[in-house]
Amino acid sequence: MDYKNIVLTVDEGIANITFNRPKALNAINGVLLKEFEHALEAIAENEDIRVLILTGSGEKAFVAGADIKELSTYNALQAKLFSRRGQSVIGKLQSLSIPVIAAVNGFALGGGSEIALACDFIYASKNAKFGLPEINLGIIPGFGGTQRLPRLIGKNRAKEMILTGKMISADEAFSYGMVNKVCSDEALLADVKTVADEIAAKGKVSVRAAKEAVNRGLEADLQTGCDIECDAFALCLASEDAKEGTTAFIEKRKAVFKGCLTG
Ligand code: CAA
Repeated sequence: MDYKNIVLTVDEGIANITFNRPKALNAINGVLLKEFEHALEAIAENEDIRVLILTGSGEKAFVAGADIKELSTYNALQAKLFSRRGQSVIGKLQSLSIPVIAAVNGFALGGGSEIALACDFIYASKNAKFGLPEINLGIIPGFGGTQRLPRLIGKNRAKEMILTGKMISADEAFSYGMVNKVCSDEALLADVKTVADEIAAKGKVSVRAAKEAVNRGLEADLQTGCDIECDAFALCLASEDAKEGTTAFIEKRKAVFKGCLTG
């Protein structure tokens, strides 16, 4: 597919998707959503990719939400289909087996915050702003924001953000536990790349298993979560990565993981 609204690059096992409609602050229209979905499917099939980074093009925005001009033309049925499609694409993002890091470099509003919330963690530039401002448009979040935000920052803070539509700064988002690190505007991408490289150098089996155990466990009761962990732990220990990791420790050297998925 020839992408016009996103840029996909892959370099040494790190994929990067840049939302690329800077004149509209990278707002999500139907075509962008289709391209994003296509890129996620391509990434899911590429075993060489170890980590995905998402960011926005230009200096102002990560993603300023769904394209309001397009939204304003929808009837109820089209709105429902758009919401379902967005939820499904963001579901695909969340269920990627590899870690996904959001590098939020400006406005992450509406659908933009909803994309970031589905990532494994968020680094934000000092100038980043988060919000679910849909209430100001007479609508509500439609790409999972009413569900993922309260799960991440708690019900009452999420309700305050959703009901007032107010934006919060990167520092506030950090204090809410929504953002892992606030970086200077200039350092954001380098800081994200550093942590992505660090994760990419770990064992492929254990990185995927850890992500899956956390995600699936959070949707289950504690005992079921511990059962998921137990199975994943056993699977990891039978992998080549575990053989290398434990041997390297005993031989007092740094582990060199081959990154294969075989046991
Ligand atoms: N959709 C379409 N175009 C958008 C947009 C959006 N979500 N956000 C910004 N733009 C466009 C503006 O229309 C403007 O285009 P023109 O130059 O052609 O007029 C351009 O981007 C620059 O924007 P501003 O001039 O408004 O820039 P600003 O710095 O003054 O303000 C802003 C920035 C505060 C982010 C403001 O643009 C804004 O409030 N945007 C809308 C944010 C929003 O409401 N997002 C939620 C959308 S609904 C949603 O996302 C539903 C869902 O759950 C999926």
